[in-house]
Amino acid sequence: TPTGLWDRYGRRATDMRLSLTDKCNLRCTYCMPAEGLEWLSKQAVMTKDEIIRIVRVGVNALGVRELRLTGGEPLVRADLVDVIAGIRNEHPELPISMTTNGVGLDKKAAALKAAGLTRINVSLDSLHEETFTKLTRRPFLDRVLAGVDAAWAAGLGPVKLNAVLMRGINDAESPDLLAWALGRGYELRFIEQMPLDADHGWTRRNMITAAEIRELMSKDFVLSPDPRERDGAPAERFEVRRREQATGEATGAVLGTVGIIASVTEPFCSDCRRTRITAEGKIMSCLFSREEFDLLGLLREGATDDELAQRWQDAMWVKPKAHGMDHTGLGAPDFVQPDRSMSAIGG
Ligand code: GTP
Ligand code: 5AD
Ligand code: SF4
Repeated sequence: TPTGLWDRYGRRATDMRLSLTDKCNLRCTYCMPAEGLEWLSKQAVMTKDEIIRIVRVGVNALGVRELRLTGGEPLVRADLVDVIAGIRNEHPELPISMTTNGVGLDKKAAALKAAGLTRINVSLDSLHEETFTKLTRRPFLDRVLAGVDAAWAAGLGPVKLNAVLMRGINDAESPDLLAWALGRGYELRFIEQMPLDADHGWTRRNMITAAEIRELMSKDFVLSPDPRERDGAPAERFEVRRREQATGEATGAVLGTVGIIASVTEPFCSDCRRTRITAEGKIMSCLFSREEFDLLGLLREGATDDELAQRWQDAMWVKPKAHGMDHTGLGAPDFVQPDRSMSAIGG
């Protein structure tokens, strides 16, 4: 049998997303309940050395070519810089990126860069204090903005920003958010909300769709397909130019790029290249997979690298074909919202 993280549908996972912690210092409504979740115990979470070992198996034995660190919020892990340095030490060429909410990033950006982090994505749903606080349930907008700028200044660019749009909350201000990102040279991506919130409050009606996002942008901007290869990425990218109000035509130079991540209405599962490891070392073949495979448990029992690789391959082999949110939605008999929320899976 060929080695690599293949599944029954001929997809190969080369893009590894590893969660460093289930904890977070924000409480975004689309992800966590106000009171937080029951956190994993310290012993349940992968240690630095266990993370380094798992990445080694992924890269050296299974053909992983890209690593993304996620959470919860990766910055709350006290040994984050050492984790990155340890991985970088073994893999000089591996792209290592991180998705963060940006709180505390201003103080750590330079050290992360020095440790070997390649680039960073920051969640930023609103530029308005009140809206930001309503969505995240924490008054930390200024800290996040400082974090974004610090990441750019530290050489962790291109900086990408993630905005989940919520009806009646931050949808109306989305063109302003785009104008702001373009002005600073950040690549904003608008994200369709997925049913991964702990409160199970997702509804199809309340979700802002990719079609609506394009419509929202069309008053001020003209979007045209970005000629760069999509390459299995969740975001469909567009070049942005300003729309001249008098003529309705595009005017001036390309201002930058915007992405739309339409997991629900325009799913990209057939091109998926992802494998996920949760903070407690479980393999998830898909955000929506029903089954988890315990890799850390096996490692702690003293398994060899070959045994770990075998379990990982077994887990990925049964990756679902697609998530089943796309056709008839939550009411469909075949769609079941996962028990875990986004923060517990790792974004
Ligand atoms: P880049 O390489 O920088 O483009 O990373 P990315 O966009 O893949 O990563 P990021 O962590 O910033 O994720 C952005 C959004 O993509 C998340 O908020 C999710 O909504 C979505 N996403 C990430 N991984 C998956 C996935 O495996 N499946 C689906 N359906 N959506 C995903
Ligand atoms: N749907 C879509 N994206 C989500 N994120 C968190 N919860 C959801 C959800 N229910 C996003 C965050 C972050 C990334 C890791 O996942 O905005 O940018
Ligand atoms: Fe991949 Fe599953 Fe996400 Fe679809 S829902 S893109 S299969 S991880």
